[in-house]
Amino acid sequence: MASGLIRRAISGPKVAPAARLVAMRLHASETEAQKVEPKVSESTNMRKFQIYRWNPDQPSEKPKLKDYEINLKDCGPMVLDALIKIKNEIDPTLTFRRSCREGICGSCAMNIDGCNGLACLTKIPESAPDTMITPLPHMYVVKDLVVDMTNFYNQYKSIEPWLKRKSPSPNPGKEIPQSKKDRAKLDGMYECILCACCSTSCPSYWWNPESYLGPAALLHANRWIVDSRDEYTNERLEAINDEFKLYRCHTILNCARACPKGLNPGKQIQNIKGLQSRGVGTNFVQGSSRFSFHVNTQDLQSSQYVTGATMTAIQLVVTATSRNSHLCARYAAEKKGYELQDKLVMHETRNNSTTNFLAFAYAELMKLPQ
Ligand code: SF4
Ligand code: SF4
Ligand code: FES
Repeated sequence: MASGLIRRAISGPKVAPAARLVAMRLHASETEAQKVEPKVSESTNMRKFQIYRWNPDQPSEKPKLKDYEINLKDCGPMVLDALIKIKNEIDPTLTFRRSCREGICGSCAMNIDGCNGLACLTKIPESAPDTMITPLPHMYVVKDLVVDMTNFYNQYKSIEPWLKRKSPSPNPGKEIPQSKKDRAKLDGMYECILCACCSTSCPSYWWNPESYLGPAALLHANRWIVDSRDEYTNERLEAINDEFKLYRCHTILNCARACPKGLNPGKQIQNIKGLQSRGVGTNFVQGSSRFSFHVNTQDLQSSQYVTGATMTAIQLVVTATSRNSHLCARYAAEKKGYELQDKLVMHETRNNSTTNFLAFAYAELMKLPQ
């Protein structure tokens, strides 16, 4: 009777090969299989996790990495599964954020083996002997893997991420229609889940977290700038036309590598810069008050903001190899209250946007009264 049941189980269409093997072993020698099986699985499936721990209630204790070993055979395939298993079965004090478990809420962002990512979308590495999990880099830690997102959310709020209109809606009380083509312009931006993986992988954001808006907030700024239904494009561009808010981005593209949704914030930042260099939404040259500076060579060269630029009393000679260097020179001169008397001469540039920008600035400067 028993062997008949086992035969049916083995020959049934839905039985996986592994299950068949177990059934045959049980049939041969049940006690022997029970002895051998756990030993094999434990030696091959045990995995160590090194997890960052810090408790604000014990301020005298320094942050540390704590080791946990779990059997992957009894665990789901994702890093979040391992964290939940550790919390449920080994250490209930382990603290981390999570909610949706499917890459939608963005709350389980953390650094896994040196890369920012979502724990729920990151597979436990198969080959590595252990996995290191730390909080998102360069953020204030609240507890263990939980970081303080206040500054990140405030920066998002500062770009006013909602539809702004000057004219009344064409269909009051209803949605504002948009062509398919205009709707497609939002692709690559609307999918952002504000997980902060990009901003916290950006070196510029590490150095200037309060003044540089970072890739996530800037991606959203561009999302509203390009939205055909929004009527504050110029104001939005002007609001972030700032050496620190926007021009700390050096197009290194760490952000694109880190994004778990496959977005490219660096590309969206380039779009904003492109619109500004073409003079869209900006009056920073018109009227020229912001370009009105006079500086001597020595002062400018000694400024910490300046690289590769020299200036005389009547002529600014920019040998900077990037637009950013030029903007830094302008920023430094403005900060020092200098007055520009004559003109800007471009000696060397590296790319088209620099050339366009400097040519534009030069033309505007020539309109200044002598
Ligand atoms: S491209 Fe810009 S935003 Fe992205 S990582 Fe580099 S500096 Fe940061
Ligand atoms: S752009 Fe990507 S990495 Fe950055 S916040 Fe949005 S989803 Fe996260
Ligand atoms: S738990 Fe929501 S994105 Fe990971």
